[in-house]
This record gives sequence, structure tokens and C-alpha cells, in this order.
Amino acid sequence: MTASSQIAARPFANDVGDAHWLPFTAMRQFQSNPMMFVGAEGMHYTTTDGRRVLDAMAGLWCVNAGHAQPRIVEAIREAAGRLDFVSSFKMSHPGAFELAGRLTDIAPEGFDHVFFTNSGSEAVDSALKIARGYHRARGDAGRTKFIGRAKGYHGMGFGGLSVGGIGRHKRDFGPLLPDVAHLSLPYDRSSMGFSRGRPETGAHYADELESLLQIQDPSTVAAVIVEPVIGSGGVYPPPLQYLERLRSICTRHGILLIFDEVITGFGRLGTPFAAQALGVTPDIITCAKGMTNGAVPMGGVILRDFVFDAFMAGPPEVIELFHGYTYSGHPLACAAGLAALDVYQDLGLFERTSVIAPMWEAALHSLKSEPHVADIRNIGLLGVVELAPRAGEPGARGNLCAQTCYEDGVLVRASSDLIVLSPPLVIQEEQIEQTVDSIRRAIRQMN
Ligand SMILES: Cc1ncc(COP(=O)(O)O)c(C=O)c1O
Repeated sequence: MTASSQIAARPFANDVGDAHWLPFTAMRQFQSNPMMFVGAEGMHYTTTDGRRVLDAMAGLWCVNAGHAQPRIVEAIREAAGRLDFVSSFKMSHPGAFELAGRLTDIAPEGFDHVFFTNSGSEAVDSALKIARGYHRARGDAGRTKFIGRAKGYHGMGFGGLSVGGIGRHKRDFGPLLPDVAHLSLPYDRSSMGFSRGRPETGAHYADELESLLQIQDPSTVAAVIVEPVIGSGGVYPPPLQYLERLRSICTRHGILLIFDEVITGFGRLGTPFAAQALGVTPDIITCAKGMTNGAVPMGGVILRDFVFDAFMAGPPEVIELFHGYTYSGHPLACAAGLAALDVYQDLGLFERTSVIAPMWEAALHSLKSEPHVADIRNIGLLGVVELAPRAGEPGARGNLCAQTCYEDGVLVRASSDLIVLSPPLVIQEEQIEQTVDSIRRAIRQMN
């Protein structure tokens, strides 16, 4: 029997084996009750037993235009038959330049250069390296430190992990990058809990950056990296004026400000990037996920001109950035990226997000008085329902809620006791209701 016929012969739903080690998954628990999908279209997945499940997570914050978007599918098919691969080292293809140009068109003013990667993690590590390289190119090689933030998630490379602020992710893998400090989470439940959208108080948390810099010596700091809206760490929208203050402190000290827009890029907040919705311009933007609508792995670092220009000052025959990946600017990813941008534009999906966001907010906050609900946060088409942990069993309520919703036909993501939501931007009003009603039923059933 060949390996593939063995897989085909295997009863899928309850015997998956352990050849495939899944990321961020309790393997043995998964094997006892595997959640397996065989198809997806629009807002729905199809399970191995033929059930349709509403995807309230856009896959993993990425399928912004819905699954199997026909134009994106067709673009990938066509690209695969035309140019399957070309290296980006000392050569390229027209699609990569076209996509880079289209991305700079929708990026904030003055961001005219894109470095392609294959994931958000690679985008972050590339951005951190570019930040150090930028200072070195300007003769300021002493600027090597990074400042991240509590609850920040910047992927799983050693750089992203080091600047990230989720302790459990780091615990088993140190030592990480030295010379990294973290700002605290700009959140206080007593004054900010159940805020609708951005909390009105909390800008003062940004002043901590100034204090941290006085400890670290600002002239040794290369970059501050934050997600404009903390995503995986629990969906925390930035307090009003908070990002503005971070921006001005960075500017004052010559420190680069990096916005990690891997989740917020491509319309989550109603604009191409969160920088535009929130009105604060960083120096470097990292992106991935929605860049190809999740259809082909791809990430990117989008740079302000002055960052790129600093690298272009030496002799023209010398490589300016000794960094890159075999699959940077892969032709299939570029085709998917171009088609995704066309779809976002033609369907007016970013604008639609702004229109639908108030309805999303109202629906989520209707769960406020349900049992165990400790907080609800939202911005754009992002949201989280935070459940109070059961005594001695952290995460139990979150898992149970996600499992009950799944059985009820709605896919939400449990991150400990947080029910995280990030639906495709094409979600319809009745599907928002279905999602929230499913969570409501699940919460009411549990102790
Ligand atoms: C803000 C942010 N940065 C980086 C990453 C890492 O992206 P990837 O999983 O594509 O490496 C993620 C993933 O969720 C993310 O949310």
C-alpha cells in the first residue's frame, strides 16, 4: 500500500495518527477528537462528516474576502501553469514588482518599498533586522535594542518571540535576544472594561516609554514594535492618543516605530492598514495573512522612503541587505496577492467593514450581562469575549465555549478563556447574529 492510499483508507474523523505534529495544539487531545475540514467556500468550512461550519475567525485572521474566492483561485491556477518559481536573489518577475507597487499605493503616504517574506514571523524578523541595519548604515551602529509590549504577539522566530510579550510562548526556548525591554499592556479593567471600541482613558501608558528609555539609554534603542491593536494576545484596541504619544517619543529620540499589522492589515479596521484608521504613521509596517487572503503563504515589510534610502547610499554593486528567503516574492503568492487586492477593491470590502463595524460592536456587547463574561473588546471587525476563568481550571470555559459553538456550527477561537473573533470581512448581518447567539447559548450552558 502506498502512503497516500493508506491515508485515503484511514477513517478520517477519528484516526489521524501522529505523523503530523500540529502547531500550538494539544496533540493527544486533538487525536481523541480531531477537528478536520475538507473544504471551504465563502463564510463556511465543510467538515469531514459533511457539516457546514460558519468561520468566525477568517481561518486564522487571514481569509478577509471569504474562502475559495473564485478570482483568487483562478489567479493562482493561472500563475502555477505560467511561472512556477523564480528566485528573488538577483532576479525577479513582473508580478513581484506589480504587487509591491500596488501595496505601496494603498500604504500610507511615503511608504514606497516592500520586502517580501513568506509569513508574519519572517516579516517581523526582517523588520527588526532592517531596523538595526538602518541605524548601522547611518553610522549609528550602537542602536541595537528593541522595545516590545506585554501581550504583544510578533510570531515565532527568535526575533519576534523576543519582542513578543506572551510569557508562556517564551518559557521553553530561551535565551532569547538580549537587550529587549517591554512596555506594559495599556489596559486597566476597572476603568476600561467593556469599552466600545477604543478606550477613552489610558494614553498615559505611552509615557512609560519615556521612562523605559531613560533606563535603557535612548541612543542605544533601534526600534519600538507594537501591534496597533493587540491581536492574538487578546484583542486590545489602543486607548485614544496612546499611539500618538508613542510616535512622538520615538521621533524625539530617533527610534524607529514598527507597526506589526499582520492582523490589522488589509481592511480589519476599515482601511488598508490600521495606521490609516488610527491616524498614526509608523516607519515600518509588517504584514501577511490578508495579503493573499490566506490562500498562499506570504508576508511583507513595507518601508518609509528614508529607511530604504539609508541602505542605498553605498557603492551600487554591493548588496545592501544580506537577508532574504528562497520563496520571497513567490510567483503564486504574488498572483494571489494581486487578485486579493483586486477583490478587496472591487467589493469595497474595507469600506464595508467600517459600515458593518457598529453592528458587530452592538452584537458583541449584547453578551455583556451573560454569565461568566468578564470583558468584551472590539474594534473594526475584531472582537473578544473574555470569560472569567473557572477556579483552578484556567482555559476550561474558553475551550468548552469554542467546542460547543463548533458543534453548533460556528468556528470561534479559544485562547485560554478568551473567545477571539475575526470574521471574514464579507460576513452578513444574520451571520453576526448566528455567531453571537451561538456564543450566548454556549455560555449559558456552562458552569
Ligand atoms: C501581529 C502578528 N505578527 C506576526 C504573526 C506571525 O505570523 P505567521 O504566523 O504568519 O508567522 C502573527 C500571527 O498571528 C501576528 O498576529
